Amino acid sequence: MQEESALELLLKSNEFLHHLDIDRKTADLVFDRRTLKALYELMSKQSVNYIDFPISSGKESVVFKAYSNRKPVVIKIYKLSTLRFSNIWKYIDGDHRFSKERVNRSNIVNIWAKKEFTNLREFQKFGIPSPRPIAFHKNLLMMSYVGTKKSPAPMLRQIDADFQDLYEQVLKFTKIIYQDAKIVHADLSEYNILYHRKKAYFVDVGQSVPRDHPAAQYFLERDIRNITNFFIKKGVNCQYDAMLREVMGPKTPE
Ligand SMILES: Nc1ncnc2c1ncn2[C@@H]1O[C@H](COP(=O)(O)OP(=O)(O)OP(=O)(O)O)[C@@H](O)[C@H]1O
Ligand SMILES: [Mg+2]
Repeated sequence: MQEESALELLLKSNEFLHHLDIDRKTADLVFDRRTLKALYELMSKQSVNYIDFPISSGKESVVFKAYSNRKPVVIKIYKLSTLRFSNIWKYIDGDHRFSKERVNRSNIVNIWAKKEFTNLREFQKFGIPSPRPIAFHKNLLMMSYVGTKKSPAPMLRQIDADFQDLYEQVLKFTKIIYQDAKIVHADLSEYNILYHRKKAYFVDVGQSVPRDHPAAQYFLERDIRNITNFFIKKGVNCQYDAMLREVMGPKTPE
């Protein structure tokens, strides 16, 4: 496959790495052969024109801005080398939507990408401000880009804004996620909510589980604890107990 090797050359070239602001060792960890092949396949299928700068380079994933059909998109690459089976298994085991999947060490990361895609699709269905999922392929997820021409939307932790209003938004949508979509985010924090055009956008939903997951209540309480702690630090008049009660609402049968 000639084009694949051209892509490989591009990705491994010093110029590209310089642009990425990651060193060669990191690049080798992200762009292993399997990921390069998957990226090539996704790029062909989704008419990706080019891959732009990395928005974020974390422990378990790298997030790039890219262009597909000339429109900005985001490609999230789950790192095959660092995604820990034990860290993500607890969110897949007990999620009835994936109970028929045969999970093993080599395909768990693909299931993880599919799980984030599935959760984003649910979020969209219920009108939650969040990236629109476009495609998943192996360890890659493509979704719409949240941000302006100049820069990606910042995280809540990075901004100064009307936090009272943002709290109301987060409360309203967390309630819809729980009561209507019947999902628990499970990693809700000021890192995973973006601020764009005065609106809160929910991202990073790979670990989100349905409400009937055995640990759902534990995840929900942890989410509410984390997010109220953040808003209290920002001077918002809110409380853990009150938010939890409001999000859970009156008890309804499943
Ligand atoms: N669709 C998007 N549009 C704009 N920015 C995004 C989008 N998705 C993710 N980001 C940015 O990339 C960052 C990392 O993405 P995300 O939170 O989904 O990955 P992560 O699992 O936290 O990665 P890691 O744990 O490896 O840091 C986000 O905090 C956000 O700043
Ligand atoms: Mg995150």
